[in-house]
Amino acid sequence: MTLLTQELTLRPTTAADLGFVFESESAPANRRYVIPWTREQHEAALADPNLQHWVVESDRPLGYFILAGLQNPNQSVEMRRIVITAKGRGYGRRAIKLSIGYIFDDLQAHRFWVEVKDFDVRTLHLYRSLGFVEEGKLRESYKSSQGFESLVLLSMLRSEYEQIVA
Ligand SMILES: CC(C)(COP(=O)(O)OP(=O)(O)OC[C@H]1O[C@@H](n2cnc3c(N)ncnc32)[C@H](O)[C@@H]1OP(=O)(O)O)[C@@H](O)C(=O)NCCC(=O)NCCS
Repeated sequence: MTLLTQELTLRPTTAADLGFVFESESAPANRRYVIPWTREQHEAALADPNLQHWVVESDRPLGYFILAGLQNPNQSVEMRRIVITAKGRGYGRRAIKLSIGYIFDDLQAHRFWVEVKDFDVRTLHLYRSLGFVEEGKLRESYKSSQGFESLVLLSMLRSEYEQIVA
């Protein structure tokens, strides 16, 4: 499946994209904000039926995102990670909006959730402004090379999505 708008194409990641994915994730502007994977983990994700790995592109790759929980019996799908390399031009907002429509309309999810590092004000702003509701903070639940970090849990329910699109 491919999601198309005038400006953006979202399509499944292929093995040929993994160099771009891994390079983007490792870049100093991104790695602090994500829970990074090895290249092998990204490669394995392409074949994992519980995950979907997507590239965001225009005439060139702009980023990628990963959905998790495709087989979750509670129809609870996670945005595991999104990275946009061309920042501050609205691509991230548009890609997340498209992914919201996709997970509720195509995947028939009941809940879309995400964990964001508590110092990642840009991403928190984005999800809140798109209608995600804050559920709480997982205090010092992730041990990074910088020390323990706290994750903010946010979600959107199907009922909230239906109100937004009504
Ligand atoms: C988070 C990310 C995906 C967003 O993509 P993007 O294309 O840069 O985002 P957009 O340009 O669509 O929107 C950015 C929004 O953040 C706002 N913003 C930017 N810096 C901000 C800050 N310091 N504080 C609050 N808001 C900020 C912008 O004003 C914009 O909001 P607006 O649309 O209401 O004006 C991208 O910046 C990224 O890859 N960051 C590094 C990795 C990461 O944090 N991933 C998410 C966690 S998994």
